[in-house]
Amino acid sequence: MIMPKQKIKAKDKEKKTKRKTGAATESAEKKLKTYALLRGMHDVLPREEKYWKNLYHIAENLAEHFQFSRIETPILEEANLFIRSIGKGTDVVDKEMYIFEDRDSNRVALRPEITASAARAYIMHGMWNMTQPVKLWYWGPAFRYDRPQAGRFRQFNQVGFETFGDADPSADAELILVAHNFYKDLGLPVEIHVNSLGAPEERQRYKVSLVEYYRSKRSYLCDDCKQRLNKNPLRLLDCKQERCQPVKEDAPQIIDWLEEESKNHFTKVLEYLDELDVPYVLRATLVRGLDYYTRTVFEVFPAVSEAEAAVGLGEASQSAGRQSALGGGGRYDLLVQEIGGRPAPAAGFSLGIERSVSALKQYMDVNQIKPAVQKFDAFMAQLGDHARRRALKAINELRNSGLKIDYNFSKNSLKSQLETANSLQVPYALILGQKEVQDGTIIIRDMESGVQEIVDQKKMENLLKKKLSRFDDSRK
Ligand code: HAM
Repeated sequence: MIMPKQKIKAKDKEKKTKRKTGAATESAEKKLKTYALLRGMHDVLPREEKYWKNLYHIAENLAEHFQFSRIETPILEEANLFIRSIGKGTDVVDKEMYIFEDRDSNRVALRPEITASAARAYIMHGMWNMTQPVKLWYWGPAFRYDRPQAGRFRQFNQVGFETFGDADPSADAELILVAHNFYKDLGLPVEIHVNSLGAPEERQRYKVSLVEYYRSKRSYLCDDCKQRLNKNPLRLLDCKQERCQPVKEDAPQIIDWLEEESKNHFTKVLEYLDELDVPYVLRATLVRGLDYYTRTVFEVFPAVSEAEAAVGLGEASQSAGRQSALGGGGRYDLLVQEIGGRPAPAAGFSLGIERSVSALKQYMDVNQIKPAVQKFDAFMAQLGDHARRRALKAINELRNSGLKIDYNFSKNSLKSQLETANSLQVPYALILGQKEVQDGTIIIRDMESGVQEIVDQKKMENLLKKKLSRFDDSRK
């Protein structure tokens, strides 16, 4: 069909306007579109860095001292590794795993924890052939599709320590000691709760009596507990609902179901802890949320300080704390075998970084403790283009010689640069202006007295080091 000319023109015009308005909406959309985080995910911002760095530093030092070697495993693993290790019927496996098929139809999962991966690596790399025990530590993200709330994220970070190939109670105690030292070094008072879950047969017999007891109290239980009765009876002891507490208090205790060998193991762990002066709380209802544990289990909670108790935060934070452990772990003698390795006893623990940082901040807040500021040896102030160029070079030279120099090249006025130097509490400011660049000199200003000295740039490093040496003890 042939269209008349006017019609063609009208159509073209329509198309053009459409294109124009379309482009306009698109560009408006482009401008407006901002992206939010996925639910349960969070950014770790620069203001948090000092805490994170400190925690990493403490973990690294402890690892070196207690001879744990760093292992890094992939975030993505075969889904079955976690299903078999952690166990069907646990919340982590049934409700919280990020599972999907990759492009080759492999069923993979974002790791919900790192112990199973460490055990997989132990088997896969023949670490059972090495001198035992093999002690590993890790730091990295884990993923759980949990209902997000305070202290509960869908991506969070764990630092963990695992000992493979050692069945002795001293290995359990050593791990609890490392966890204790971690928070001691951090300056955060904690409580460590311990219990023993015995061997699988002992636990099985205990479960029968637990279910029998809870069945007789069924009408008093919350709906979740009614389900736990059939699905995962040990988790009955974990219930936080008010109405279930009286039932829980009178429940049979697993310790009474332990045979001689398990009892002896637990007693020895506790004796070691006494000897090491590691305080602990015996908690008969501590069961942990993962299936692989045998014998010793433990969890770490923030302790309620005197100051918190005094300002009435005691009970609130105590109960909040009870719900969110900072970390936990225990012995898992059957896991390596369960996932296809030669039998190898093992034990370990992981600490949540986000929860530890948040508990530390809360503790510092309540106790009015200020975070330590990074200490610089000097602040480099500059005036003008030439001076800035020379200053950058000087900063690099000083850094190479081991000095810590701060600077801010976005500021041009000397006054504001010296104000920054003052707020950083640096002992010295180095000042470079046009004149100094021409003369090959630099001004060293004592920030406390305000006294300034013009020195040869070549002598600056030695002179600054000499001046700083008088602070040797106090600036460490
Ligand atoms: P877990 O108790 O499941 O144990 O996790 C250890 C810690 O990770 C918790 O105490 C908590 O601080 C942190 N965490 C867990 N889930 C979340 C979450 N959704 N958001 C924020 N933090 C969380 C384990 O993962 C075992 N692999 C521990 C272990 C190591 N057992 C033997 N070796």
